[in-house]
Amino acid sequence: AYEILSGLVGSEMCIRDSLNTSAAKVEKAMEGLLPRSEGIEAPLLEAIRYSALGGGKRLRSFMALQSARLFKVEELYALRVAAAVEFMHSYSLIHDDLPAMDNSDTRRGKPSCHIKFGEATAILAGDALQALAFATLVWEETHPESGIRCRLDNALASASGGAGMVAGQMMDLVGETTSLSFDQITRLQNLKTGEMFSFSARAGAILSGAPSTEEDNLRKYAERFGLAFQIADDLLDLEGDPLEVGKPTGQDENANKATFVSVLGADRARNKAEILIEEAVIMLDKWDEEGQSLKDLARHILKRTN
Ligand code: IPE
Ligand code: IPE
Ligand code: MG
Ligand code: MG
Ligand code: MG
Repeated sequence: AYEILSGLVGSEMCIRDSLNTSAAKVEKAMEGLLPRSEGIEAPLLEAIRYSALGGGKRLRSFMALQSARLFKVEELYALRVAAAVEFMHSYSLIHDDLPAMDNSDTRRGKPSCHIKFGEATAILAGDALQALAFATLVWEETHPESGIRCRLDNALASASGGAGMVAGQMMDLVGETTSLSFDQITRLQNLKTGEMFSFSARAGAILSGAPSTEEDNLRKYAERFGLAFQIADDLLDLEGDPLEVGKPTGQDENANKATFVSVLGADRARNKAEILIEEAVIMLDKWDEEGQSLKDLARHILKRTN
């Protein structure tokens, strides 16, 4: 009733429900894959669990699961890929928050990993989560065909590594002290944020060995989605309530980050995000009903408050 009063239309309510259901499934899959230890290295495992479980919107894993549905892939396989992508994402957030990077003290409404466990443990927890992401993809339970597991691993390595997300993080740091062109900012955001969404959106195509044209449509969807998503994140940094967002706000301006919001201003950046979202939705034209949740997801990201 509260949501009806606050003016949410049906598809937005529906996507919120789907996201919650999906997040619970992914959480369970992740939980089952995380290492446990009683040895003296136990604080490492505690830090891994602290940062990977019990929070996050789980948008990338939702995208991976929905992509798998487009290609009628067994959900058991898709859940493994979903878990892998969230492990990788959790590692990227732990490292992103470190004093040497964004120096953020809160994450997902709790003290950041390095605040809770110390910097060294946080670095190691990130390292371990990254390895776990790759390990999850290559274990036989993820897909019976080793060739498909290998393609998944390769795709995640490209998306996350030195020509993907990590390169984007480097550009993000360089951008604090160097003035970047509009094209460079676009590339920065594509690498930093878009690549991991692209992997997630393509997961179903890779799992099913779909033709590359279909993978391309999903890639184009995710690229636009990623840029719009990062604009929404940057708008929340500017205008959001830190308690609701679950992480500090005002940090981008303080650190002089190169974002679409910093170069275009809030209104034009929001407008750009709206256009990108409609473009993203068009990329899913060939999927009618089956593509609906990915379309709803794209329209949801500008409405979020965390
Ligand atoms: C935060 O991603 C990092 C960015 C790319 C902006 P999310 O906003 O998806 O973080 P969680 O997983 O929901 O906490
Ligand atoms: C980080 O972008 C993107 C990553 C690859 C982790 P931000 O630095 O804007 O993410 P938040 O705002 O800290 O979540
Ligand atoms: Mg950052
Ligand atoms: Mg940050
Ligand atoms: Mg941010």
